[in-house]
Amino acid sequence: MNDNKRAILLFTFLLSASAPYAHADSLDQARKLYLSLTGTTPSAVEQNLIAQKIVAGQSFEVAKDIVESKNGMDSRGNFYKVTVKNFATPWSNVDYTKMYPLTDLTATVIGWVRDEKQFNQILYSDSVYTANGISMAGNAVSTSLTTASPLLYTATTTTDCATIPKCTTCSTPSVIKGRILFIDPSTPNSTSKLCRFTSMAEADFRAGMASNNFYMPLSDTRISTGIIKSTNAMYEEMESQNLNLADPKVLVEKSQAVRLHQDPHAISGIMTTRAWGNANYTAGTNRRSFQSTMKHLFCKDMMDINDTNTPDFRVARDVDRNPGGTSTTFKALCVGCHAVMDPQRGAYAYYDFPSGAIEYNQGQVATKMNHNAIYPNGFITQDDSWMNLSNQGQNSTFGWGTQESGNGLTSLAQMYSETKEFHRCMAKTVFKTVCFKDATTTEEKNLVKVLSLSYEEDNFNMKNLFLRTSIACMGK
Ligand code: HEC
Repeated sequence: MNDNKRAILLFTFLLSASAPYAHADSLDQARKLYLSLTGTTPSAVEQNLIAQKIVAGQSFEVAKDIVESKNGMDSRGNFYKVTVKNFATPWSNVDYTKMYPLTDLTATVIGWVRDEKQFNQILYSDSVYTANGISMAGNAVSTSLTTASPLLYTATTTTDCATIPKCTTCSTPSVIKGRILFIDPSTPNSTSKLCRFTSMAEADFRAGMASNNFYMPLSDTRISTGIIKSTNAMYEEMESQNLNLADPKVLVEKSQAVRLHQDPHAISGIMTTRAWGNANYTAGTNRRSFQSTMKHLFCKDMMDINDTNTPDFRVARDVDRNPGGTSTTFKALCVGCHAVMDPQRGAYAYYDFPSGAIEYNQGQVATKMNHNAIYPNGFITQDDSWMNLSNQGQNSTFGWGTQESGNGLTSLAQMYSETKEFHRCMAKTVFKTVCFKDATTTEEKNLVKVLSLSYEEDNFNMKNLFLRTSIACMGK
């Protein structure tokens, strides 16, 4: 072989070798994108498909496919149960940790992201996501078709119990099962009943009826209770049964009325879920709710918002004006937080969490709001009015919503929902969740700014914010 020929061969070899290298970048991007969105790695087939679409300029489309398990992607609901869950779980517990079971709060956030609801309204809307099912007691019409053979087994689902064959046709009489009649929970206003045989074991079925468990027709499983006001059991069991929260037939939106609150005045989105109440309205003075709001919704620690120039006329009686015998500390430190916080705290005046559930008494100020009158001339809470004294001074950078005062949590939360800092904080938190780091460099901070603005322009579509942020973090 002469030198010329060798050079050509080498060139051809280099060309063919360089093709996979160029492709390697998009494969790496594909892996990162999938990992960002689901917390898991793609199969080789998925990875190739994603890479191809990235190269074809369809990053957004393929990111959406990953999230929704469409067009060759199978992420098994991991976007919701891993990524979105991680995003919101710190909001759901007093320790602000990600290591916490599913709750009504996190399930509601997952539902809002999944259903692309206008996310800023999650603070005050009448909404809670629950398992889709029915109480077993009273709905399980029959454990018996004939007296001779108490229960019947078939996998059939039918709209009419009468058409189901009698037990004499049971093919496997040793596997004795029950049947259940229910109004389809997917169509709550319908009166037509669906009938289905459950594949639950007889003992399971009977136990479920005896203790009024919550039956989920779609998965043909039961969870211990449909009650969400005073226990988190439903959500923990949804998680331990690994139910697919991406499925709108599994996780559904309901009103908080009756389920969580008797009085509709009490209802204010995720801030009146049981999890938020458990974390923030237990004992204390309801100030923790303000602190948590700053942390989760505005990405601020209390010292960040400490502004000693704020007028102090709403600071409550329990805050000592002379800690350690001098007013210096109060003026230089205490007032900075309490003058900002205590006026907004008024919104929580009627909330408490005395024994496992939120208690709301319209017109009745909870004792803890006025306890410990260390400084008797301090502010006394007499109703649920709130004020925002932070429209001037250092905290005006929040870009607060227009309303400066009002009554009750719903109106305060509505004001929060218009606040620019809330949208910026959501963009920061999504960045942290899918890029696995805080935005610290100038470039990253600018990126978060742009993402936050696009989120606002996009009607607060949180799913799209996740998609765009993941694409921005998959590298070039
Ligand atoms: C960095 C912000 C900040 C500063 C500074 C601050 N506080 Fe507070 N304070 C809070 C928060 C937040 C809570 C609610 C904590 C909770 O309930 O978990 C609170 C709660 C309280 C309570 C209620 C305790 C209870 O549960 O009964 C009192 C009293 C109080 N602070 C007094 C003071 C005094 C006096 C000072 C100054 C020496 C001070 N605070 C400085 C943020 C602050």
